[in-house]
Amino acid sequence: MKLWGGRFTKETDADVNAFNASLPFDRRLYAQDIEGSIAHVTMLARQGILADAEKDSIVAGLTAIRQELAEGTLSLDSQCEDIHSFVESELIRRIGDTGKKLHTGRSRNDQVALDMRLYTREQIRETDLLLKELLTVLLALMEEHTETFMPGFTHLQKAQPVTLAHHLGAYFEMFSRDRSRLADCLSRMNYCPLGAGALAGTTYPLDRSLTASLLGFAGPTRNSMDSVADRDYLVEFLSGLSLVMLHLSRFCEEIILWNSNEYGFLELDDTYSTGSSIMPQKKNPDIAELVRGKTGRVYGALLSLLTVMKGLPLAYNKDMQEDKELSFDAMDTAKDCLRLFAGMLATASFRREVMAQSAARGFTNATDAADYLVGRGVPFRDAHGIVGQLVLVCLEKGISLDELPLAEYQKISPVFDESVYEAIALKTCVDKRITLGAPGPSAMKDVIEEYRKGLQ
Ligand code: ARG
Repeated sequence: MKLWGGRFTKETDADVNAFNASLPFDRRLYAQDIEGSIAHVTMLARQGILADAEKDSIVAGLTAIRQELAEGTLSLDSQCEDIHSFVESELIRRIGDTGKKLHTGRSRNDQVALDMRLYTREQIRETDLLLKELLTVLLALMEEHTETFMPGFTHLQKAQPVTLAHHLGAYFEMFSRDRSRLADCLSRMNYCPLGAGALAGTTYPLDRSLTASLLGFAGPTRNSMDSVADRDYLVEFLSGLSLVMLHLSRFCEEIILWNSNEYGFLELDDTYSTGSSIMPQKKNPDIAELVRGKTGRVYGALLSLLTVMKGLPLAYNKDMQEDKELSFDAMDTAKDCLRLFAGMLATASFRREVMAQSAARGFTNATDAADYLVGRGVPFRDAHGIVGQLVLVCLEKGISLDELPLAEYQKISPVFDESVYEAIALKTCVDKRITLGAPGPSAMKDVIEEYRKGLQ
């Protein structure tokens, strides 16, 4: 059934109907649509705009429709333009004329604005839960690996030794910021647009605060034109999701490197790896690669929506129907990625020995050797030069600073003595880094404690 046939004298072209319809994708809003309608008629009845009996009949009809849709006994395949038309016409089919009163004091413009907000609010909460689960996996790994040494990199060149806990802690920070961004978005968007009507409110004595509180909003929105024209909250959520994906993607890139034959820092579990159809030896990190790859889809949704919105005059324009497919895809994608990634990380095994050996090679203790000289009165710039020369000697001999004989040290600077070996040992290099935020296990344990409290 159409909601608007009255002023037309011809049937809509079939191709136009299909092009215009959003039911194939906004059908997933049915529960939000019905929830909004129930709150709306409840408010209408309290305001004396609908009789209680009429309200009761509408609520019963909507509740049955919702249940049958959830159970799959009612089919959503219909000629209806969108989910709003579908629910309304199904209600009228069931309860007759009373059903025709549902749309009193409402427009599809404030209705769809409400449905999308309700849906987005739920998605934010679900995404936040998945982020929390990922943080829980990270925290467990961090607790286990405060003394698992590994090289820290800059320019993808070995730089200074860190621990696995410290490296993972960087991601803990990123995903924690993601959660706070989502919370921020949620608090800003949590206002109810219902009652804005098509754009200019209505002449009925609606109690917008009541509708808002029935639907769990902090209150009603304050400008009816903005209420139906605003999709900022979706842009904010998609941008929050884009950052989630950016963080996952960087992490995936590292996991792919670490899982490679060359690094060998970790091995992904068989349950999270795939094989090759031709090369029998292969075990590929497809999940990490896919998560990295799907990042593009989520960025794409953000860019699309920004572009859809940028030239729209107030208030509602049909362009805004384009907010749905791309947002839904981005929301589904980000949640899938968070879930799969957490599982992949939780089941991976880290090779402590390989990581420690890698940290011990590549002169990650060169800064500490310079600091050793500084501790004995050598200005840092001179110390830097001296250790640079030592590194050259080591490179020629194909050995590390730990393996260089004391005589060689002393040839370049007499300040060195036997104690240098202790000072540049891998464990010393890490243990001594104890300022807040540094990888030293004692500093790290305090931070982990804070993380644990924050997660509860
Ligand atoms: N399917 C529409 C959308 O998603 C619903 C709102 C329709 N409003 C209108 N004035 N045609 O935006």
